[in-house]
Amino acid sequence: MRKPFVAGNWKMNTDSHSSVELAEGIVSGSLEVAGKSVTVAICPPFVYLQAVVKAVGNSNVALGAQDIYFEGNGAFTGEISASMLKDSGCVYAICGHSERRHVIGETDELINKKVAAAIAGGLLPILCVGELLSERQASQTNDVVTRQLKEGLAGLSAEKVSAVTIAYEPVWAIGTGLTATPDQAQQVHELIRKLLSEMYDDELAQEIRIQYGGSAKPSNAAELMGQPDIDGLLVGGASLKTEDFLAIIKAAV
Ligand code: 13P
Repeated sequence: MRKPFVAGNWKMNTDSHSSVELAEGIVSGSLEVAGKSVTVAICPPFVYLQAVVKAVGNSNVALGAQDIYFEGNGAFTGEISASMLKDSGCVYAICGHSERRHVIGETDELINKKVAAAIAGGLLPILCVGELLSERQASQTNDVVTRQLKEGLAGLSAEKVSAVTIAYEPVWAIGTGLTATPDQAQQVHELIRKLLSEMYDDELAQEIRIQYGGSAKPSNAAELMGQPDIDGLLVGGASLKTEDFLAIIKAAV
């Protein structure tokens, strides 16, 4: 049985005060379920990781990074390595978020290096995949997701891939208020699980958690997570509101 996994991606939001307040609210509101019946993670901006790790304390709310760089250390101005993230208390690292793919210009090859570096550094990567609206309209969803999944995990053994969570985030549903219907999302999640079974084996494919992301909110969370292959949510906007994020966590239980 896969334990549901709800993660909040705060993106470039909050400040030193509100990041701590939000983290404290999430910790105190999820005490009964976090880590037990649902895995909960929050991914603040890098600069607030150290404040948020204190706010999270030894609770079962885990910390994640929104991105990672694949080199260990050295002359890579502005980048953050796996060991720095680990040292700052991170357990998870988002790799290949659509905003990094489409706003910053990250390639599948770079994202693959990030996933590998996260695993090598003892972090659990959340590999994001998902098609643009134009790609969905051109019936290319399956091709795009297949490419992003295969290239994102290229060269990684089954043992390493068991550390990975996949997040299916259709780009047209992110921050737009347009959610994929549970049926649309389930179809892609089923494809991802089938691909994992072909690339590795069925046992691993059944173990890996596949989150959905894209305008997830309290009103659609239960129905989305009720789909057989949707194992949780990667939440953007609604993870910035304590009440909404807590309602989503509770919908997972
Ligand atoms: P929204 O929930 O704001 O649509 O963002 C989804 C997302 O990109 C999470 O990583």
